[in-house]
Amino acid sequence: MKGLILSGGKGTRLYPITFNRAKQLVPVANKPVLFRVIEAIKEAGIDDIGIVIGDTGAEIREAVGHGRRWGVNITYIPQEAPLGLAHAVKISQDFLGDERFVMFLGDNVIQGGISGLIRQFASSTWNSQVVLTEVDQPQHYGVAELDEQGKIKQLIEKPRNPPSNLALVGIYMFDHNVFTAVNAIKPSWRGELEITDAIQWLVENGFAVHPYVHRGWWIDTGKPIDMLEANNRVLAELEHKIEGYIDRDSKVDHLVTIERGAEIINSVIRGPAIIGEDTRIVNSYVGPFTSIFHHTVIEDSEIEHSIVLDHSRIVGIPSRIEDSIIGRDVEISYSPIKPKAYKMTLGDHSRVGLL
Ligand code: G1P
Repeated sequence: MKGLILSGGKGTRLYPITFNRAKQLVPVANKPVLFRVIEAIKEAGIDDIGIVIGDTGAEIREAVGHGRRWGVNITYIPQEAPLGLAHAVKISQDFLGDERFVMFLGDNVIQGGISGLIRQFASSTWNSQVVLTEVDQPQHYGVAELDEQGKIKQLIEKPRNPPSNLALVGIYMFDHNVFTAVNAIKPSWRGELEITDAIQWLVENGFAVHPYVHRGWWIDTGKPIDMLEANNRVLAELEHKIEGYIDRDSKVDHLVTIERGAEIINSVIRGPAIIGEDTRIVNSYVGPFTSIFHHTVIEDSEIEHSIVLDHSRIVGIPSRIEDSIIGRDVEISYSPIKPKAYKMTLGDHSRVGLL
């Protein structure tokens, strides 16, 4: 079996964090979502993986490389425009050949343990398997309607009146018949070739599409709030370890990871949390559900339920920072210089909530 990961898209809903970087590379619990997807595919025993890339392709190639780090072989498949998930399948036909494959959206985070599912499809006679999960607002997703026997009756992309609350999560398995389907369908109202329509075509034409209902959590990291939620979920399930330095005046919970070269000085870290490589936490409090990435400094400040990326500095902030996503090379500091005022240099699309 082969793997196909879709990593195009602009990530506009995550601006400014994704203004100049791929959304699939934003770290969740200090590891890019895309790396977690590669690991999930590798765990199912698949080592031939194609990644469909768009405008942010150069950055993805640089971060992932040939895939040796994971013991996989990566092939890049450029998509000239975001013309839909079924279009991505279409342009990947040369790479996929006649093999069965699993397709993952590179910005989705799902609770582990799905490798069994992929292996099951590999040895089955089904033409496709889709992963469904119950959601609160099915109108924002592809939705499946099942019959009394649990078989798929129909699939609809973002229906105004959803026939069920079962959404298609971004994991699909196919055999070569999907190429006939993607060539048969027409673009949707949003001008995209929808994978949901391709699967519906398979159902209508008598192919076996098996639905699997996932009971764990699943997060499509489209918006900042989803990114924080994914961070919470992954941090809570991480196997924590201490590889950095903690001085005697600090207090660090057992649900905390301190990565190599990190230093915790006279601070309190309450888990679940992760402190990245070569990051320094000095005279500070880092509260639950916080991920601080590499080469960052937190000094004389308090932060909780947040993600901070690399090479940033948060120094001397008098009130606690919460529910925040802070990018790379950001500086937030207390300024004693008069007049007493907020002094900011914020880039396009920044969001700041002041007291
Ligand atoms: C896509 C699919 C949709 C699926 C969703 C999962 O939506 O078209 O069927 O439920 O991914 O994240 P999009 O993110 O393109 O709106």
